[in-house]
Formats: sequence, C-alpha cells, structure tokens
Amino acid sequence: MVHHESMGRELSLEMARVTEVAALAAARWWGKGDKNAADGAAVEAMRAMFDSVSVNGTVVIGEGEMDEAPMLYIGEKVGMGCGFEVDIAVDPLEGTNLVAKGMTGAIATLAIAPKGCLLHAPDMYMDKIAAGPKCKGKIHLDWSVTENVKAVAAALDKEPWDVTVVVLDRPRHQRIIDELRASGARIKLITDGDVSPAVATGIEGSGIDMMVGIGGAPEGVLAAAALRSLGGEFMGRLWPENDEERYRASQMLGGNAERLLTLDDLVKTDDVIFSASGVTDGELLKGVRFYGDFATTHTLVMRGETGTIRFLETQHRLDRKPERLKKVLEPLSGCGCGN
Ligand code: FBP
Repeated sequence: MVHHESMGRELSLEMARVTEVAALAAARWWGKGDKNAADGAAVEAMRAMFDSVSVNGTVVIGEGEMDEAPMLYIGEKVGMGCGFEVDIAVDPLEGTNLVAKGMTGAIATLAIAPKGCLLHAPDMYMDKIAAGPKCKGKIHLDWSVTENVKAVAAALDKEPWDVTVVVLDRPRHQRIIDELRASGARIKLITDGDVSPAVATGIEGSGIDMMVGIGGAPEGVLAAAALRSLGGEFMGRLWPENDEERYRASQMLGGNAERLLTLDDLVKTDDVIFSASGVTDGELLKGVRFYGDFATTHTLVMRGETGTIRFLETQHRLDRKPERLKKVLEPLSGCGCGN
C-alpha cells in the first residue's frame, strides 16, 4: 500500500460530470454506423470538461501515444493544474462498435488515483478474471474455469449451473467457452465492452457473477479500479501477441512480461475513484436519453476509500451547457454526418 494524502471526496462528483458529458456526446452518434466519430465526440467532450476540474492530472491510460492521438493521449496533462497530483485512466467510449451499431452496453468511463498508483498498462491484450466482494481471495486466474465456477458458486451459496459468466464472443475463447459449458455455468456472450460486466460482478443483483477472458489491458486497469472500490476481486496477465509487445510488456513490468497482476499491482491504493456513465442501455446503467433541450444520464461513481457506491440519475439542460461543450453535444443533422 502506498501512503499519501487522500484525494478528497469532492472529486467524485467532478469525475461523474466528466463521464456524463462524454456519454452525452457519444450518444449523439448512437446507431449512426461511425465508431470513430462516436469516440472522437466522447474524447473531445471529456477533454473539455477536464479543463474545469481543479486537479493536476496526467493521463496514464488514454487514447494512445502522443503522436497518434490529438487528445487524452498518454502523458497529457489534464485538469486546471492545481490541487492534487493524480494519474488518470480514461476510456471516453468503451464499446465504440456498440454505439455505431445501436447496441447495448456502451459506457464512458475513467478512474483516478494519486500519482503512481495505477498500472500504466500498455495497449495490448490482458487475460482477466473478475468477481464480486464475496469471491475476494477465492478465485484465481491460474485455476481452470471449472475450478473458478465452483469457487464462485460456493462463495455465492448457489449451484454451478446458476453461476452467470460473461465472456467476449471471440474465437480465442472457444476453449474456455467449451469448458464453461461443461461446468454447467450460464454464459453470457458479449460482442464488445468487457469493463461494464466486470464492474457488474461487484454490484449485488446485477445478475453477473464472473467475467473471464482476454480483452484490452487498459480496460483491465479500469475494471480493476472499479473492483478495488467495490471490494471485489480482479486479476490479470498481459497477453502480448508478438515479440515487440512482449518486449514492451517486460519493460513495463521490470522483466517478466507475463507475470500475474493482482489487484494491488493494478491499482496500488484504496484511494481511487471510478466513474462510468451509460451511453447505451446495459445491465449496470441506463443509456442517455435526449428530450429536446434536455437529456438524462445514468452514472455509477465510487470511491474506494469509503466504499460508497453512488448511482446518479442526472437531468442536463443542454441549452445551458458551457459554450466549449455545446458544439460537441449538439444533435446531428438529418444525414447523420454531423454537418
Ligand atoms: P473499443 O475500443 O472499440 O471500445 O472496444 C472495446 C473492447 O470491446 C473492450 O471492451 C475489450 O476489452 C476489447 O475491445 C476486446 O478487443 P478485441 O475486439 O480485439 O477482441
């Protein structure tokens, strides 16, 4: 555990405001078949909102390296530059395809923690496992999925066939899907967006008990921040696909690219804030609704230090938003091309 002064609870609401505005901007592109435009709108809105937050932030997980992303790139300074020095992990639009195709489960999300407390995960795959607080210390990435289903069933006091596991629907997961079927567990296959179901494992009544499989490493750190706040369990292991990625991964982890990453490795403190706003409807969060001059958002914001979990339903007066945000929040014209 790293010792430091606490970030302060006021930042929770500020972070909710940041994901809300990213969700509003992305939702304008719902069902328009343009994932890059949806992502770009979320990035621009999130970046603009950060300008009014009194924090001294550095993006450690973002839209890419400085030369490949105009905004929210790794190393970019965000916030007003005063106050606490924090590391920020952002995914302004998690599930770009979901928005483009008009599907459920997209969110705008971020996590912040004092400087040095979030793993600077490289943009590659990570093998992951997530489950809620009752499963803390009772599952393991190195065990077979059958063993993990049994462990989750025992921890939740249910039978293995009543355990619901979320897996990204990818050919690389066929082996674990087959094994999960044999274990009797219920599988919910998703096309994209593995942060939201990982977080859902930690929320009582979400209907999701475990998330397993290989997805993005940056998304893994965001999910870990949420599960750290929720008191749940998360483990990961980078999954480099070639020598170049293996080299980058080992540089980052000081030698062993494929070492097990525990929750403590991924998020080194309880002093973490996680926020996610629904862009499209999902298990965890409702999506954005537009009603002419106003719109509603649904946000989950949590502070690890106190374990407080807040669900915020917010009404936004779009005509009263600051000028710097109005453009990105405007409705699209009829052709859907944004002109
Ligand atoms: P986007 O970057 O398009 O939002 O996609 C997100 C995502 O579905 C993550 O949730 C997941 O971890 C990853 O992509 C899976 O990667 P792949 O599509 O290459 O299997």
